Amino acid sequence: MNLDVPVGTAVVGCGRVSDAHIGAITSQPGAGKLVAVVDQNLDLARATAERWGAKYAFGSIEEALREPEVEAFDLCLPNHLHASATVQCLDGGRHVLVEKPMADDYKGAVEMAKAADAAGKVLAIGQSRRHGSAIRYVQDHMREFGSLRAIQASFCMYWPGPQAPWWAERTPEEGLVLGLLGSHTIDFVQMILGPHPIRVHAEATRLRDCWKAEDEAMILLRYPDNKMATVHLSYNQQPFFERYYLLFDKSIVEVRDVNTVLVNDEVVFKPVEGATLLVTNELFKNQFAEFAAACRGLPNRSALHPHGVALMRVIDAALESSLKNQTVNLDW
Ligand SMILES: NC(=O)c1ccc[n+]([C@@H]2O[C@H](COP(=O)([O-])OP(=O)(O)OC[C@H]3O[C@@H](n4cnc5c(N)ncnc54)[C@H](O)[C@@H]3O)[C@@H](O)[C@H]2O)c1
Repeated sequence: MNLDVPVGTAVVGCGRVSDAHIGAITSQPGAGKLVAVVDQNLDLARATAERWGAKYAFGSIEEALREPEVEAFDLCLPNHLHASATVQCLDGGRHVLVEKPMADDYKGAVEMAKAADAAGKVLAIGQSRRHGSAIRYVQDHMREFGSLRAIQASFCMYWPGPQAPWWAERTPEEGLVLGLLGSHTIDFVQMILGPHPIRVHAEATRLRDCWKAEDEAMILLRYPDNKMATVHLSYNQQPFFERYYLLFDKSIVEVRDVNTVLVNDEVVFKPVEGATLLVTNELFKNQFAEFAAACRGLPNRSALHPHGVALMRVIDAALESSLKNQTVNLDW
């Protein structure tokens, strides 16, 4: 992608996922320019800036907001900071790409959306897994597959324990796998069936005691027009198992690991060379290119904030359903 002026970007949070975001910016000089990196751990910010050639390293968003070259923020912060940091950046007149899940809860997502509307800036959610070529293939060929009745989606993987310290602290009321993995998988379902399911039922449990919140969940979503979806999420599965089955009247479309598509068991789309199961450069590169296009007012496939708000409402409903052991009706 070549924009007239690449989007000057500050990446905030130099933890686990940040290299994928920074690599996506630095490998696409026509779309973005890495102006600054920010981390409350200034030594980490400085080391990251040096490694990737960023002009500035800051210890806070406030400092980065004083730098006019920063046109957009790419927030790679722990979930509980997404809402406040996003509002701060939008109020400062900058575009924001925020990691998934959009917020810690629906209330936070609504505040972020209000700030985006008030600022007239782009607020996109880092739904990285929607940016794979296989997902795009399915989106672009939907009409050829027939009439869709249902989706069965599974995102099941294994983590031996918390992958960041804040994972271990999350309470059952805050949720773990429902937000962290569910944000990817429900995003896919909503992209295909629409953002507004009318009923949500979820069962969730914790199979291991290395964290406090749920590590296994099954969600049942009822959509208008008699369409339905199931979503299975797990941190207890070896080997890795990510599958989206789309059940049409005359065909079954399967997306494996967001990089391969099969129609009636026949491979019709193969992964790009070198794609790994969990973090592929392609997903994050495409995600940033779409965000940069959105910042320039161009057509794009970003997960923009109205979609993100609906997604957070469904995640909250799934959490509520699992905690109260009841079905949640959603009135949009
Ligand atoms: N899209 C994906 O596939 C994917 C993969 C991994 C993580 N994520 C998401 O990315 C986000 C970050 O996850 P992570 O695993 O990289 O977390 P992490 O804990 O490894 O990194 C977070 C970083 O933020 C910094 N930080 C914390 N508070 C700060 C503040 N107030 N100001 C500046 N810096 C601050 C920390 O020092 C740390 O370096 C999460 O929302 C997570 O859900 C997405």
